[in-house]
Amino acid sequence: MNKENTQTVLELSENPLRNFDVEKIRQDFPILQRMIKGKPLVYLDNAATTQKPLSVIDTIKDYYTMLNANVHRGVHFLSEQATLAYEESRLKIKEFINAVSACEIVFVRGATEAINLVASSYGRKNIKEGDEIIISAMEHHANIVPWQMLCEEKKAKLRVIPMTDDAELMLDEYEKLLNEKTKLVAVVQISNSLGTINPVREIIVKAHQRNIPVLVDGAQAVSHIKVDVQDLDCDFYVFSGHKLFGPTGIGILYGKAELLQEMPPYQTGGDMIRMVTFEKTIFNDIPNKFEAGTPNIAGAIGLGAAIDYLKYLNMNQVAKHELDLLEYSTLRLSEIEQVKIIGNAKNKASLISFVLENIHPHDIGTILDSEGIAIRTGHHCTQPVMQRFCIPATARASFAFYNTKEEIDKLVSGIYKVIRVFG
Ligand code: ALA
Repeated sequence: MNKENTQTVLELSENPLRNFDVEKIRQDFPILQRMIKGKPLVYLDNAATTQKPLSVIDTIKDYYTMLNANVHRGVHFLSEQATLAYEESRLKIKEFINAVSACEIVFVRGATEAINLVASSYGRKNIKEGDEIIISAMEHHANIVPWQMLCEEKKAKLRVIPMTDDAELMLDEYEKLLNEKTKLVAVVQISNSLGTINPVREIIVKAHQRNIPVLVDGAQAVSHIKVDVQDLDCDFYVFSGHKLFGPTGIGILYGKAELLQEMPPYQTGGDMIRMVTFEKTIFNDIPNKFEAGTPNIAGAIGLGAAIDYLKYLNMNQVAKHELDLLEYSTLRLSEIEQVKIIGNAKNKASLISFVLENIHPHDIGTILDSEGIAIRTGHHCTQPVMQRFCIPATARASFAFYNTKEEIDKLVSGIYKVIRVFG
């Protein structure tokens, strides 16, 4: 582990006077200096995955170069150091989302695995025949299918909060859905295909009035807004490291300690046990009870480095810059007659989904790619959203703090090229 690097980042993070200088920030991301097809890369696919700063890349390299050993297992020096670094990362995540305790932070593969864990463990234990689970009309498949399968298994019912044409959840309809059969609410904080920022706090308050626990899918939220799980008072919060400038294959399940303690293990094996005999097994305490097998140690430590980097940037400054990008891109795209923006919520993250009259989104993506511009096209793992807006797919430009207005200008020029070629 490159201690020196970590320390530098931490010291800088404590300097509140650091200015937000996007050109300087871009220098921290080696991939942003790349040329694609002879053009400078314009990376606008941040909702799919974010790029990694050098400090994260170096931390992972240093881990494998200097520190590689299994955690929680050895008395030897490397194992102790690897365990310290792994647990230090858990503490950083606890602070980042303001959990009460590090035992509420479970390392998983990503947001998808976190939701599957809750559905399999909490869901199987607590959902019974005739119960109801509420999700919203703008969920990612990862926050639909696990609940759908649970409902099928338990003969429970999946209820869906509808949304308006502007892609805002209909909270009056949500209130009507809540009843004595409702046993869980699972809702996305920021929609990956529409950009809507949902009023999850309000949704949680309404559910808690009936003692219904709430899971928040924060996969798209953590990189854009300050998340405080105590302030939200959510019962579960999930996100993926790779959407937060960290490595792939690592993610977080946050759960209130009293809920995690009551839940049965999701997977079984090494490290999640306290004692095993052929007759009986006593499980470990949380969070280890949910971390069977050798975890993604390098990934967890890399995610810790990504959080150090974000602390150094300051999430409030990130949010302000991204709002500028959203306003500018909305204005510029609205000027193009053939563009129709899908998702016009008042409270929106820096992401624009759009369609072009009579041009398939795949063709938009292909032409933009020839200009070095990376966007995502398709249904974005939200097929019900596409069905709601009667479209097969959208083109989606999703921004991060390292994007610039010049890049949005290039996107706009690229869209004009698409119209010239296909229009
Ligand atoms: N869920 C990711 C996206 O929206 C992959 O692109």
